Amino acid sequence: MGRVIINSLSKSFAKENESITALRDINLEIRDDEFVCFVGPSGCGKTTLLRIIAGLETATAGSVTLDGEAITGPDPKRGMVFQEYSLFPWRTVTENIAFGLEMKGAPKSERSRTAREYLDLVGLAQFADHYPYELSGGMRQRVAIARALANDPDVLLMDEPFGALDAQTRNRMQKELLSIWEKTRKTIVFVTHSVDEAVYLADRIVVLSGRPGTVREVLDLPWARPRDRTSTEFADIRRYVLQLINEGEQTQ
Ligand SMILES: Nc1ncnc2c1ncn2[C@@H]1O[C@H](COP(=O)(O)OP(=O)(O)O)[C@@H](O)[C@H]1O
Ligand SMILES: [Mg+2]
Repeated sequence: MGRVIINSLSKSFAKENESITALRDINLEIRDDEFVCFVGPSGCGKTTLLRIIAGLETATAGSVTLDGEAITGPDPKRGMVFQEYSLFPWRTVTENIAFGLEMKGAPKSERSRTAREYLDLVGLAQFADHYPYELSGGMRQRVAIARALANDPDVLLMDEPFGALDAQTRNRMQKELLSIWEKTRKTIVFVTHSVDEAVYLADRIVVLSGRPGTVREVLDLPWARPRDRTSTEFADIRRYVLQLINEGEQTQ
């Protein structure tokens, strides 16, 4: 489970007396278990698109369905991980991860068992009783990923989740995310402005044009992982996608 269909989706925002079109006529089918990355210039509607899939924002036209059901509001079945650390500072790591289960009224024993399972998955077992402020940026994002996964979502929505991390930590987190994805087999919709990150991670890259965001091109990357950033094919695709983005910006 985890098939997302975006059908003729458009989104406009009313701003004072004018209307800003953020997304126009987006069509895409995301397969179950697929890792899709959206890239595009700043302001092209990437966050808006994720928020619509999350049910935090409504489309102006068109629709999004998850496994055939229209998305009408937020649901833990669509787990979200943001760039900024969205952990509750007053809760321990375990309490953060178990938050969704607590909301559902799951008993304490189940909550701590599930939290432990996902803490193990993200390699933070020994930090179960720590508070977010005691963790590094990379560790906090791992907790955020564990928290989203603990709700057993059908799809994981990630909005530049590694954007605030230093380059080395970011590369390590990308590797870890791939290993988590291989173990859990969730559909992942990942937004980034880093083309390098998209080429490293994605089964498919969706390149959006500048505002209003439209699908400029969809690229298949049927390569084995882990991918070699120093290979010519990696560099070629990266250059090609960057070119698409730059052209998209210039035509605005
Ligand atoms: N709540 C909002 N109200 C008005 N305009 C918005 C709102 N959210 C986003 N926008 C506008 O929509 C466009 C797309 O924004 P966003 O989705 O954040 O782009 P990205 O994530 O690709 O940088 C921008 O021009 C932004 O100013
Ligand atoms: Mg954004």
